[in-house]
Amino acid sequence: MNEMATPPVPDIGITAHYPEIGTGPVDTAIYHEPAIYAKEMDAILRRSWYMIGRVEQIARAGDFFTTDLPTFGYEILVCRARDGKVNAFHNVCTHRGNVAEHRSEGHSAGLFTCRFHGWSFDLEGDLKRIRDEEGFFGCDKAKMGLRRIACGVWQGFIFVCPEEEPSQTLEEWLGEQGADTADYPWSQCTQSYQWECEIACNWKLVNDSPAEVHHIPVLHPNSAAPTMMASGNPMGRLLDVRIRGNHRTNSHYSVQAEPKPVQKLAYFHASAAQNVAGGARGYPPGINATRSPFWTVDLIMFFPTLSFTLSAGMYTAHQVWPLGPNRSLYRQRVFVKPAGTAAERFGQENTMVEFRDVVMEDFSTLERIQRALDSGQIREFHYHDHELALRHQHHVVTRILAA
Ligand code: FES
Ligand SMILES: [Fe+2]
Repeated sequence: MNEMATPPVPDIGITAHYPEIGTGPVDTAIYHEPAIYAKEMDAILRRSWYMIGRVEQIARAGDFFTTDLPTFGYEILVCRARDGKVNAFHNVCTHRGNVAEHRSEGHSAGLFTCRFHGWSFDLEGDLKRIRDEEGFFGCDKAKMGLRRIACGVWQGFIFVCPEEEPSQTLEEWLGEQGADTADYPWSQCTQSYQWECEIACNWKLVNDSPAEVHHIPVLHPNSAAPTMMASGNPMGRLLDVRIRGNHRTNSHYSVQAEPKPVQKLAYFHASAAQNVAGGARGYPPGINATRSPFWTVDLIMFFPTLSFTLSAGMYTAHQVWPLGPNRSLYRQRVFVKPAGTAAERFGQENTMVEFRDVVMEDFSTLERIQRALDSGQIREFHYHDHELALRHQHHVVTRILAA
């Protein structure tokens, strides 16, 4: 065996780079107390930006889609205006509150017409037509357009902020994390598929689930462990954790992977489909920040509820929607480049299905943990050095709530 080819197992000592975060056990109250959830709603959730789609979904002027914001209990209408801008509105007709547009996606010749009494709104949300207007008592159409919701685009992703006057612009919210990952070829992965599930647990637990890999050898012995950990990393350690303000990135590390023959074939073809050559060389500074040759995947977190699992040429967006102190909705959308051959497609499909299996294994622990939290059975969490991302999330939430 060639000793030179064997990389070192990552050291412990990552947490020491962030002394302000501490090392002690943490109080679990923020994971279940209704009063704390109510405070998070005002201080964190309402003030954040949420990724709700991609610009490719509304390529031409008049294209639109509707989507819900489950945390806030309402639906929005997103469209491409004539000037090319992306507009987002509360999907609520100003006559009596029916949805202004009932379809989930499509193309409008320029008007959205409510299917209750036929009021019509244009691509700027302006109220253009009231049916039998003379029967009303002086409606001021200029003041009765659809209510806008703050909306912005970053690297082709459409974001909205539920705050009436956002306290942070989208750019400010993305911060250094956004700047350092902007140059990834996001828009080359034009094909995607999405699935979602509701989980009876706090939103932070959903974030925690992929945010450490210390559990991989134990929880995923037959799925992720043989390819992500194998014999070279038996404790499931990370390459690095990079904290940037409220956001953070975990860099994953793989050595001596032991894929099964079919997996090997699938990975080979998936890589070919993504035109991966030389791993992530040339990627922006926020991706594989340590420039390790043993890098596999980054988990890029935008606090509080959006993260991306990102590898060379393929990525997955995870958007968590808090529904209450112990209920969350998880939406996953995988993005790939169009496959050139059937073998490449097989490789991509295999990767997507494997990844979903791993996520389902992750989620198998969450409702049990929540039950222990809700019943007061666990009042402290003890984090490993490589569970720093979880400790950081706890630190950020606690700091914001205290302020
Ligand atoms: S509620 Fe929309 S037209 Fe009446
Ligand atoms: Fe996992």
